[in-house]
Amino acid sequence: MEPQKVIISEDLQQSLTQAIAEVEHDRLFVLVDETTEKLCLPVVAEFACMQGAQKIVIGATDQHKTLESLAHVWSELQQGGATRHSLMVNLGGGMVTDLGGFAASTFKRGIAYINIPTTLLSMVDASVGGKTGINFGGLKNEVGVFNNARSVILDTIFLQTMDEENILSGYAEMLKHGLIDCEQHWAELLTAHRSTFNVHRSTLKKSVAVKQRIVLEDPTEQGIRKALNLGHTAGHAFESLALERKPVLHGYAVAWGLVVELYLSCVKTGFPTDKMRQTVSFIREHYGRMAITCDDYPRLIELMHHDKKNVGTTINFTFLGNIGDIRINQTATEEEIKEALDFYREG
Ligand SMILES: NC(=O)c1ccc[n+]([C@@H]2O[C@H](COP(=O)([O-])OP(=O)(O)OC[C@H]3O[C@@H](n4cnc5c(N)ncnc54)[C@H](O)[C@@H]3O)[C@@H](O)[C@H]2O)c1
Ligand SMILES: [Zn+2]
Repeated sequence: MEPQKVIISEDLQQSLTQAIAEVEHDRLFVLVDETTEKLCLPVVAEFACMQGAQKIVIGATDQHKTLESLAHVWSELQQGGATRHSLMVNLGGGMVTDLGGFAASTFKRGIAYINIPTTLLSMVDASVGGKTGINFGGLKNEVGVFNNARSVILDTIFLQTMDEENILSGYAEMLKHGLIDCEQHWAELLTAHRSTFNVHRSTLKKSVAVKQRIVLEDPTEQGIRKALNLGHTAGHAFESLALERKPVLHGYAVAWGLVVELYLSCVKTGFPTDKMRQTVSFIREHYGRMAITCDDYPRLIELMHHDKKNVGTTINFTFLGNIGDIRINQTATEEEIKEALDFYREG
């Protein structure tokens, strides 16, 4: 895989002009969803480097991360005269960069693409690391490939139009990056208050660097990339349970998953209790709690068993021995998980 270039832009026009110039191409396409078409495309549409770019629009949100949308992108590329030497710019959140990355990676066996993530979650997580794909057969990210964007350009200008819930959703992944990185990074994130969630370039840079470093070590998730799953085994279970009731944003489920998995980290791998408590109170303050009862435990544990990362019959977790001390391929008994869920509800 080609190494991935992540640019924390100070001047979007200049960054994009350069990124496009670096890829020799015949035709240029820009993929947006119905929301980023209105809110984000105007920011770049006037740039000289975007003149002549053919626009492709898909429906917004994960509901549209489907085979139908993918086929629509392929058709538009075909009808727009795309060749193997065409270039696509994905301008949107994680849905657009995942689906657009997959469309580009498969059209004529692969054309080059550039990601311009426009949500906090896609800036610090989805747009970096080469995972692309769509949902299929009721399962998230069921079909896709690993393939890097030629460049990823992050610009905080796009965050101005985001609502607070979506900012918080992305912030949960940043918190995860802080936890797997180092104490200073973690502490900085915890000092943020609701009014100061407007994320600065330096914060973005630090967060995305954690993901890049880990992905570079293990691009296809054979080992250490599992560090990025911290909070996600329990988090995905909360997310799926919520889907059966009232859907929640991914980052909220991850934040709740972090509560469960940090508690288990204390029990299983000696994570310091005070740091767990500090993190948990931050999460409680900003993300609240999904209302569950002990009657939900069997379903939640069943959902954890269905997690893609599991091998055999045990549930695979990533825990921490301390901040930055990553322990992959851990497991816990049902009793321990129930105790952690008790803590989640009451602790
Ligand atoms: N590839 C990976 O490694 C990876 C990692 C994490 C998440 N993901 C994927 O990312 C997706 C979630 O990302 P997301 O939260 O960005 O989802 P999203 O792309 O669905 O964006 C959420 C909503 O925000 C809107 N939006 C986008 N930019 C905006 C802006 N600047 N201002 C206002 N609204 C804006 C979108 O139109 C959408 O309605 C999921 O599909 C998930 O599977 C992928
Ligand atoms: Zn996540």
